[in-house]
Parts: sequence; C-alpha cells; structure tokens
Amino acid sequence: MEVIISADPESASSRAAKHIARLVRTKPEAVLGLATGSTPLLLYKELIRMHRNEGLDFSRVRTFNLDEYLGLAPSHPASYHQFMWKNFFDHININPARTHIPNGLLSGEDVTKFCASYEEEIRLAGGMDLQILGIGSDGHIGFNEPGSSLASRTRIKTLTRRTRSDNARFFRSENDVPHHVITMGIGTIMEAKEVLLLAFGESKATAVAGAVEGPITASNPASILQMHPAAKFHLDESAASRLEKHDYYRWVFEQKPPWQADA
Ligand code: F6R
Repeated sequence: MEVIISADPESASSRAAKHIARLVRTKPEAVLGLATGSTPLLLYKELIRMHRNEGLDFSRVRTFNLDEYLGLAPSHPASYHQFMWKNFFDHININPARTHIPNGLLSGEDVTKFCASYEEEIRLAGGMDLQILGIGSDGHIGFNEPGSSLASRTRIKTLTRRTRSDNARFFRSENDVPHHVITMGIGTIMEAKEVLLLAFGESKATAVAGAVEGPITASNPASILQMHPAAKFHLDESAASRLEKHDYYRWVFEQKPPWQADA
C-alpha cells in the first residue's frame, strides 16, 4: 500500500489522472471501476481535459460503477447514472454500451439476479484493471458500510444514518436519501488489479488514519486495502492530517527513483 500526500485535491487528482491515463494508453481496452460523489470530480475533470487536449482515447475502455441508489430511476438528478453522464461520460468518447452502472429500479428477486449478473459481467470483461474509490467518513468503500463482510460480493446494502446525512447534500432533504443501494462487494473491489483511493478534507482524516494505520477490520471497510498488493491512497494534507507516519510517507514518495510510476 502506498500513501501519496499532495498539497491539495487538485494536485492529488492530477497525479491519479496521470496514473489512469498511463493505463489507458498502454491498455486501450482497460476495465475501470468508477466511483461517484464529490471526491472524484476533479479527477474526472482532469481526464476530460486529457481527452480534449491530449487525445486520451476512451473508445475501447469498459467501465463498471461501484454503486447506485435503489429506488432512483436513471433520470433522477441524484442518481449515479446522472452523475456519471453529467460529470464524465458526456464529455469523453466512451461507448455507452461499454459502461455499466447498477440498475436502481429493481426489487425482490430481481435485485439478487442483477447482482449475480453484474459480477458475471465483470468476470467476463476480465476483471477490473483499476478501481477508483472514495471513502466515507465512516470508512465505507463503495457502499460497504462498517460491518460489511470483507469477502462480500455485489448485493443490496442498507445505508447508515451517517452516510444518509453525509449524502443529503445531493438531495432536497435527508428524508429523500434512499435507504438501500446496490453496491459492489469488498471482495469484488479487492479483485481489481490496482486500486486508487482518493480522500480529501478533514472530514475524512479519521477514516483514512484507521484504514491506513489501524487494524484490518470490518468496522473500517477501507482497512482491507492493507491486504491489496497494489493500492494507492491519494490524499490531500487535510485527509492525511491524522496519519502518525505522515512524514515517512512523504519521505518515501520523495525518495522514489525517477523510473518509478507516479514520481
Ligand atoms: C460512491 C461511493 C462512496 C463514496 C464515498 C465518499 O460511488 O461508492 O463510497 O466514494 O461515500 O463520498 P464523497 O466523495 O462524496 O465524500
């Protein structure tokens, strides 16, 4: 696991975007796992700029989103379908048929069937080459809330009160935030060949410190990334502010040989 601390969200996002661009250039049919929320906005903005100004080509890239709210139609302004098209897909040359976002309009047995088929599609695509993650203030990744099985697969989850309150800003009121979601599981995320977790701001500092330096525990789902062979945490100074080994991570990054990626 590597911790990369940048001065601000802009430079952290730009580093992460360079990493993704390098992957897409070397493997044009790369399979990307995508996240929504406030955190990846600057990253998507930078990838859009690279597409426009540097010819970064997404035409053969395949994408799988982490999650979607149950009960929201793709046309709902707070759905993750809308988020992805508005903030990323509409501005790059992605083939819509190669994008995948969980269906939020299912119920009953159809949810179970859909989740199994989502897993199967990821498998048939060859698995995720790279998974982008944010982190909840409670340590969730995807919508795997504290207590989620560290081996879980795509399934329905119930959001915590805290997550519903954190995400209320995307809705008219907290009451409108759905209680249920479909989310990739932690086991699904862990099978990605690489993971880039981005976290910005003081509100993420405790969850980040637990994930990076605490014990591996379902109480902080992101802590499982300590077991991932190629996970990078891209943090700004505020999100990194509670890391005990903060100076060491900075020093390691500064000592990187020039031939190493992300230098
Ligand atoms: C979003 C997702 C969530 C968010 C997390 C942080 O697809 O899976 O885990 O990454 O809730 O959200 P923001 O970035 O809005 O703070």
